[in-house]
Amino acid sequence: MRLLISASLLAAVLGAGAASAQDIAAGERSWNKCRACHQLGETAKNGVGPQLNGLFGRVSGTVEGYSYSTANKNAAITWDDAVFAEYIKDPKAKIPGTKMVFAGIKNEKEIGDLTAFLKQFGKDGKKQ
Ligand code: HEC
Repeated sequence: MRLLISASLLAAVLGAGAASAQDIAAGERSWNKCRACHQLGETAKNGVGPQLNGLFGRVSGTVEGYSYSTANKNAAITWDDAVFAEYIKDPKAKIPGTKMVFAGIKNEKEIGDLTAFLKQFGKDGKKQ
């Protein structure tokens, strides 16, 4: 019985591993929703919104040369998976007064895929 349970657990873990490559591809499609305003990669510049290289672990409102709203600047959030998920579901709810005009992504799977995609880009814009 115990053996059966651990075998199915192992299958679940392996299954999750196999899915992650696809998740990044799905995340890249989701990123299309952000591209009008944000850039990623070694040549990323600030546009309507700040560049998003090395987002995870970054403190909100700290991209040099980008003119943030007071709300975003003062939010003092460190972007991690949980905070980002909450934010991207409804940016105006998480940071009232933000100038990011985006309805939000409600689907948890899509948020996870997008997170995996974004996490590839280090501070220098290189894929890690
Ligand atoms: C219509 C333009 C627009 C779209 C689309 C958009 N954003 Fe933004 N985003 C902004 C602006 C403008 C800001 C700066 C907000 C402020 O200063 O209040 C911002 C800020 C952010 C921040 C905070 C960055 C920081 O340094 O604190 C994150 C994270 C973010 N956006 C992620 C995303 C993601 C991911 C998507 C796509 C799912 C997206 N945004 C779509 C315009 C946009």
